[in-house]
Amino acid sequence: MPVAIPPGLLAQRALGDDWGRWLDRLPRLADEVLADWRLRPTGASLHGHCSLVLPVADADGEPGALKVAFDGDEESLHEGLALQRWAGRGGVRLRRADPHRRALLLDWLPGPDLGDVWDVEACEVVGDLYAQLHVPALPRLASVASYVERWLRELEGLGRDSPVPRRYVEQALSLGPDLLAPEGDPVVVHGDLHYANVMADAAGEWLAIDPKPMAGDPHYEPAPMLWNRMDELRGPGAVGSVREGLRRRFHALVDAAGLDEDRARDWVVVRMVLNAGWAVQDARRAGRGLDADEQDWITRCIAITKAVQD
Ligand SMILES: Nc1ncnc2c1ncn2[C@@H]1O[C@H](COP(=O)(O)OP(=O)(O)O)[C@@H](O)[C@H]1O
Ligand SMILES: [Mg+2]
Repeated sequence: MPVAIPPGLLAQRALGDDWGRWLDRLPRLADEVLADWRLRPTGASLHGHCSLVLPVADADGEPGALKVAFDGDEESLHEGLALQRWAGRGGVRLRRADPHRRALLLDWLPGPDLGDVWDVEACEVVGDLYAQLHVPALPRLASVASYVERWLRELEGLGRDSPVPRRYVEQALSLGPDLLAPEGDPVVVHGDLHYANVMADAAGEWLAIDPKPMAGDPHYEPAPMLWNRMDELRGPGAVGSVREGLRRRFHALVDAAGLDEDRARDWVVVRMVLNAGWAVQDARRAGRGLDADEQDWITRCIAITKAVQD
């Protein structure tokens, strides 16, 4: 039986021809890796935005997760490198990797993830994880600064008539040079550490999966813990305002990790303004106005930018 590709992953065909070509190759590719590594699928295929994840058993019957990621961009290129560097401390253990096929064999994590844990407690868990993940960086990882410098230049190019309030764009641009100047030794930054990317292992220990690793400033890390699960902060169970909810999370992260509060705040501002800017760039590239989701996303980005500073 060829490997079944979940419909949610097949939908990524809409992202372009390179996705279509990868999805066409994927069943064969996954079969080949399964055969080469003597793995047997043990359950239904899972997926994320850019990868197929198969529950498997290896030749010894040891459960694992085979992850095969989209190869049309660089996003997943260094995932294995970071996981190897962490060696099972703070991140899921990597058992085997084939960078050419973007295939990784990971320990199986039964879960759950942090999606249903009280958000402030989840922030404490993640703040604690930083200490294990932020180890001295590997020379092969691209630096946070090299990415952010380029992103800030693109942000500057948005011009004055963009829907992102100019004063926040100016603020992000003026914070850039300080944040990008080397301060301390660069560490491995996970890059995408949020609730769904932290799972419990069989012993109930929380481990990070799915790094988009870079080398640089650990203060870069917290923003995804603010923008994810944001709906809950205004839902029926919410305590206080969205602003208060965001600030509770921010302080839980900073306190648990022992980060410098000012520097962490400045990075949140820069990352949220960049996020807002990308929504504008996406719409412009497609030659259309912002849709309702993009408008809402920009509003959220600016709400976070404000919440951490006033
Ligand atoms: N080691 C693992 N054990 C169990 N499930 C996993 C494991 N790694 C990933 N998964 C499942 O696959 C999903 C997608 O994996 P992830 O690494 O987050 O990929 P993406 O980069 O596409 O988001 C996860 O949300 C999780 O449900
Ligand atoms: Mg993920």
